[in-house]
Amino acid sequence: MWKIEPPLYNRQGNLHLGKSDLVELADRYGTPLFVTEENRIRENYRRLNDAFTRRWNRFRLYYAVKANNNLAILNILRQEGSGADCSCIPELQLANLANFRIEDMLYTGNYNSDEELNFAAQLGVPVNLDDIDILDRLAKFGLPETICFRINPGFGKGGFDKLVFAGPDAKFGITSEVAERAYARAKKLGAKRFGIHMMAGSSVLDVEYFGQVTDRLFEIAAGISEKAGIEFDFVNIGGGFGVPYRPPEPDLDIERVAAEVTDRFKQRFEGAGSVPYLYAEPGRYLLCDSTVLLGRVHAVKFAGKKFVGTDAGMNILLRPALYGAYHQMYVANRMNARKKEKVNIVGQVCENSDILAKDRELPVTEEGDVIAILNAGAYGYSMSSNYNTRPRAAELLVRDGEEFLIREREDLTDILDRQRLPGRLLK
Ligand SMILES: Cc1ncc(COP(=O)(O)O)c(C=O)c1O
Repeated sequence: MWKIEPPLYNRQGNLHLGKSDLVELADRYGTPLFVTEENRIRENYRRLNDAFTRRWNRFRLYYAVKANNNLAILNILRQEGSGADCSCIPELQLANLANFRIEDMLYTGNYNSDEELNFAAQLGVPVNLDDIDILDRLAKFGLPETICFRINPGFGKGGFDKLVFAGPDAKFGITSEVAERAYARAKKLGAKRFGIHMMAGSSVLDVEYFGQVTDRLFEIAAGISEKAGIEFDFVNIGGGFGVPYRPPEPDLDIERVAAEVTDRFKQRFEGAGSVPYLYAEPGRYLLCDSTVLLGRVHAVKFAGKKFVGTDAGMNILLRPALYGAYHQMYVANRMNARKKEKVNIVGQVCENSDILAKDRELPVTEEGDVIAILNAGAYGYSMSSNYNTRPRAAELLVRDGEEFLIREREDLTDILDRQRLPGRLLK
């Protein structure tokens, strides 16, 4: 089994996250439960931010709110100095509630509705547009001072096929040729400041790729600057920084990534008239390993193989069902167990894709045990659903042994909250 590394510890046979005993937290708060270690988020932010700013101090991180929209997490990252990358109106509203300033937000939608464009225009948030036509629609509501376009650099990479966001089959971005016209048009319509953006894929552990794909963006940006006669205030390389989910994947060497990216950035822009800021908008890298999802084993069944049924199924953590993603697991209350067996870890949802792990070697597991599912901090809670009428999990924030419930567990009230019944159906 993969070595246990901070912020995880084995103390007296129980898995701990920082100073918190996860078995004890499962008993006290119930399951399914996302437990997030605050210090880890801060460490991740500082590691990534320092790696870049040491090499290029005109650098800024914008946390991708879609990874987890909890206000506590937004506030932690705001305190660290992050901006907020928002993908829709409610994310902009949440960022506002978490006291991000408008100028510290970015709005990247795609296939935007008029309502969204109007909202962005009224707010005055820097808007990242996914097509030239959307520029004209946005202009009807008043053009924000800063206009940015999302570029499809022609290739991308992702931890799974579905996590590749650039290249010929991507629904995102515009080509460099369209971009030249788009910026010229934005200038004509009165845009004052310009940015350029890409988000070419997620969950990438390949250092060289970051150099290659960002260099392509920088090349496109330099070309547009020249042809459209504009200067970029910022160049946004998106997110995508991967974390190791599956042993023996190594950590992403973020120092080398920063070196690859900033070296190329400097080659393209240093010495040019006004040098842009370099932005990145990570989600996964900041949150992923800060959070463990706890599921209680309610039933164990032998049907050809052993099925271990927990309350943390695909409704709580969708990634295995959605991508075939691998999440490392421990039996949190059996960390010193020697006897192992291969089992399927499954949820309680009526789908056969509700399998969180197949043929996974784990300690011999019984009813009442607590399964700890690692790397659940990014796209964990945010992708969860009420499918099968199951309430969403609770989220607990821990720091130095203290805990705070940052999102209560849902119950029937939440399921009923928006339902309305015509009187004629009561008869
Ligand atoms: C536009 C945009 N920016 C940033 C991100 C964050 O990506 P990651 O979590 O891989 O860092 C995403 C994720 O899908 C995205 O769509």
